[in-house]
Parts: sequence; C-alpha cells; structure tokens
Amino acid sequence: MSPNDVRIPTHSADAVRKIEASCRIVADVLQHLEGYIKPGVTTIELDAIAEDFIRTRGGEPAFKGYQVDRKIYPYTLCISVEEEVVHGMPGQRELSAGQIVSVDVGVCMDGYYGDSAYTFGVGEILVEKQRLLDATKESLRLGIEQAKDGNRVYDIARAVQSCVENQGYSVVRELVGHGIGQHLHEEPPVPNFVPGLLHRTRFPNVPLKSGMALAIEPMVNMGMFHVHTASDGWTVFAADGKPSAHFEHTILIDGATPRILTEWN
Ligand code: MF3
Ligand code: CO
Repeated sequence: MSPNDVRIPTHSADAVRKIEASCRIVADVLQHLEGYIKPGVTTIELDAIAEDFIRTRGGEPAFKGYQVDRKIYPYTLCISVEEEVVHGMPGQRELSAGQIVSVDVGVCMDGYYGDSAYTFGVGEILVEKQRLLDATKESLRLGIEQAKDGNRVYDIARAVQSCVENQGYSVVRELVGHGIGQHLHEEPPVPNFVPGLLHRTRFPNVPLKSGMALAIEPMVNMGMFHVHTASDGWTVFAADGKPSAHFEHTILIDGATPRILTEWN
C-alpha cells in the first residue's frame, strides 16, 4: 500500500456536533480577546481572560497540560509576538503599539477539540506588517477552498504555498496543520508546502473525504522560512528576526463546500 493510500477515519454526525461546539467557543474566545489587544496589556492577562471565558462556557483549555515530547504546556493560549512564529508563552510582557501578535487557542468539550489562531495588529501597524497579515489570511482562505471531497492534502498545501511565495514571503516547514477530533492532533499532517520527494512518507498525500476535520494553519515569515526554538523550550521564532504571522481554522470537509467551524470575523 502506498503511503498516499492511508485512510483517515471520518467523524460521525454526533462527533461533528461536538467538534462544532468546541470550535464555537474557540471562535468566541478570539472575538472576545480582540477587544483586549491594546498597548499595555500583558500576555498573561490575556491568558487569564481566555481561560475564564472557556471554563464559563463549559469547556477546557486544550493546550494547558498538553504534553509534547517530555514537556507540559502550562497555559491556555500560545501568544507569539513579532518574530515569534508559534508557541509563545504568556507572561508579564506588555504588548506595544505597532506589534503583530498571534493568539492561538484550543478548547476541549465533551471529548472533542477545536483549534484556531488569529494574528492581530496592536494599535497602528506598518503597512508592511499589514500586507503580511493579509497574505497569510488569504493563503488560509485559498487552502480551505481546496479542502473538499476528492482532493488531497497536497492540494491544500499547494494553494497555501503558492499564495505565500507569490507575494515574496515564506512558509515555515517545521510545523504543520493536523487532523482534529477526539485529540488535538490527529492524522493527517497538513503541511503548508508541497513536500519534497524525501518527505513524502512523513506527509502522505491522503485523499480528503467528507466528515474529516482539519486544522489548517499557515505560518508565514516575512523573511526566510528558517526557525529556531527559544531556551524556554517552546517559543518558535524566525531565525532572521523578521515578523511572522499565523492564522488557523478548524474546518470540516463536506462535499465541495468546506465548513469553517471557527469563523468569527
Ligand atoms: N495550535 C497549536 C498546534 O496545533 C497548538 C499548540 S499546542 C501546545 O500545534 F499546547 F503544545 F502549545
Ligand atoms: Co493547530
């Protein structure tokens, strides 16, 4: 069997309803947080607001306590500022005008997950940064458009990558999107680039089927795609120090018309 033929289980109608419910909370958290993204707010304040919001709605923060390798992630949000790409940790740092800040949030409720990220501008931002945000958001939209029955994972990857690279930006290689459902991270991986020959086993070009839920999440660097991990063990940042943007939606494949489950704006 070719690695491209791995079959991904699809979700039942009941499972889809539960994924939808978690995704609704995720979307509402991001919308709620938008009102607090201002110069002077600390990222730990945003984290507390998000955790409270999620628990009030009956959900649990999906990232808090999540284990990757031997490390446990201790916060509700990942907040990644400027050249930070993803997995930035909330702390006493204050946001300042002109920064871009990616807020990533996951929720688990009734045993099912939702996951989404949005990159906000703090106050007025330079037009160069706004263009980066627009391009990343557009690449996500074009990737989602390919998430239909009969297509394959690389159709998503190709759409994202060409949108990003045609505008002179680069797609991060080390981190990818993912299936989602009863776990935060499920098969298949969803790269934002068409893998080279050597990586096609790691990223099989699996067929997309109605009932699959995917978290599609382009991470786009203004400069080169190379990244490093900070000494905190989590924060991934652009090696060249240039700004990076991250947008993510959980979507459901449903015939030819993907359903975005974490839409809020
Ligand atoms: N949305 C991020 C992802 O899909 C979530 C970070 S997971 C963490 O990888 F909990 F490890 F932070
Ligand atoms: Co994700």
